[in-house]
Amino acid sequence: MLLHASFLYISAVFAFGDSTVDTGNNNNRKTPFKANHWPYGYDFPGHVPSGRCSNGKLIPDFEVSLLGIKDLLPAYLDPMVTDKDLITGVSFASAGCGLDTLMDHVYNVINMSTQLDYFNECLDRIRRIAGSSVATNIVENSLIIISAGSVDMCLLTMMYLLGVFDIQFQLIKISSLETFNPLFKTHIFIPCFPFIRNR
Ligand SMILES: *[C@@H]1O[C@H](CO)[C@@H](O)[C@H](O)[C@H]1NC(C)=O
Repeated sequence: MLLHASFLYISAVFAFGDSTVDTGNNNNRKTPFKANHWPYGYDFPGHVPSGRCSNGKLIPDFEVSLLGIKDLLPAYLDPMVTDKDLITGVSFASAGCGLDTLMDHVYNVINMSTQLDYFNECLDRIRRIAGSSVATNIVENSLIIISAGSVDMCLLTMMYLLGVFDIQFQLIKISSLETFNPLFKTHIFIPCFPFIRNR
């Protein structure tokens, strides 16, 4: 991880993208990209299939625990998430989400644009509970993780080329949200396909 001196104090983590960083946002959606079923979660604390496309924790979970923030990065759409949880960060990612929005639509997953809308909604909630200046402080000291593009490369390489313009637009949209200096970090992994079940 690249850490610039001014980023050494990180108090919150916000993740955007696909299954590599989705900690359960698809659980209540009608989409094939769901991982809240066996054998997912086999090695997760409590052996629960939390919606993470993994047998255990995901990288954002390890990141928040390495940073000493909390043990797991909750999913923003988890009904159990409290306003207080938002202060130390959540994931807005949606398994199956690509940079190309057509595939997001086909699979009914949360596109990058909607993930950003949720981020704005989350910031409003943080401002309401903590006040505007504290909210700005939280965002300024946050780690923003964007992990997307693997789905496009796997499913539709041609669409990836079209999608690039989309993500550039989205990044501009993120940076215009607040005067903050997020640490951008991307992981390009081969995604898993939760609809291929082992029955
Ligand atoms: C993203 O998803 C929302 C909700 O489904 C939709 O209204 C919007 O048009 C989508 N955005 C793009 C760029 O496709």
